[in-house]
Amino acid sequence: MTKILVIGANGQLGQSFQYWAPYFPNFKIFFEDLPEFNLLDRDQLVHYFKSTSINIVINCAAYTAVDLAEDQPEAAEQINTGAIDSLCQLSKSFGFKLIHFSTDYVFDGSAQTPYGEDDPLSPLGVYGKTKAAGEAVMQSAGIDGWIIRTSWLFSPYGKNFVKTIFSLLQNKDEIKVVADQTGSPTYALDLAAAILKALEHKPTFNGVKIYHYTNSGTTTWYGLALAIQQQINTHCKIHAVETAAYPTKAERPKYSVLSCEKIKKEFNLDIQAWELSLKDCLKKIG
Ligand SMILES: NC(=O)c1ccc[n+]([C@@H]2O[C@H](COP(=O)([O-])OP(=O)(O)OC[C@H]3O[C@@H](n4cnc5c(N)ncnc54)[C@H](OP(=O)(O)O)[C@@H]3O)[C@@H](O)[C@H]2O)c1
Repeated sequence: MTKILVIGANGQLGQSFQYWAPYFPNFKIFFEDLPEFNLLDRDQLVHYFKSTSINIVINCAAYTAVDLAEDQPEAAEQINTGAIDSLCQLSKSFGFKLIHFSTDYVFDGSAQTPYGEDDPLSPLGVYGKTKAAGEAVMQSAGIDGWIIRTSWLFSPYGKNFVKTIFSLLQNKDEIKVVADQTGSPTYALDLAAAILKALEHKPTFNGVKIYHYTNSGTTTWYGLALAIQQQINTHCKIHAVETAAYPTKAERPKYSVLSCEKIKKEFNLDIQAWELSLKDCLKKIG
């Protein structure tokens, strides 16, 4: 039986893998997160892999606070880059394949058509830079695995835009949402299911492959907020604003749509429109 370890298991993507685990009885899936399993504690990791034989590590752990990263570049670098180096060394020592997640924020957003896996990286902020560096570390490590770039994750778990807007719409009379950043919302539950389905095909791992996975369709944060409002009963007025009117510490790409043709074709995946997945998410939120 394939033994899988999910790291960062209490984050929104990690919890999405926990949701699906019972539906994949051919996999024995272990879940670990802080404080018992700290990616920055090498001795702890070595001890873990010596005592538990693992075939595939799915790394959902990351430093994901995009704006805070501008003030804490070392902390972001440690987890998003340094810890990937540690995982790669452990992959060599203990022979597991590594599945790691990256982000649309490795691109600068100057494109007007969806980014392909091989397009040049040009991150705008610290978070994107540390994630791009993590990708580079993994690509040059001489291990087998996948880097899955995704974007605009939402789920019933943790902290994300959909949960924040859902709550604001019920508690405020009006809110402002930026309307000049375009991307593809991605349901973490769809992403986790897609990875497990892809692994069910018993893929041959040969070096590090990059894939893009998002839900299909594109929108702006404003469009996403309006779609949330359509699903719930609220009188809150949503105002479209420009990024310049809502300054954040980290600069975000204006356009970060990822082309997902490669993953769809290789694993015969059907990817649902984000609007449908949003409905499922809002039902689960409540
Ligand atoms: N969220 C998005 O919109 C988005 C978009 C594109 C790509 N991604 C990528 O998708 C992946 C999953 O993101 P997510 O939203 O699920 O992240 P998340 O909710 O922030 O979860 C990350 C998890 O990693 C844990 N963690 C942090 N430092 C750790 C360490 N040193 N050792 C072990 N675990 C540690 C966190 O624990 P604590 O909470 O206790 O710190 C948390 O449980 C990440 O690679 C992220 O870069 C996310």
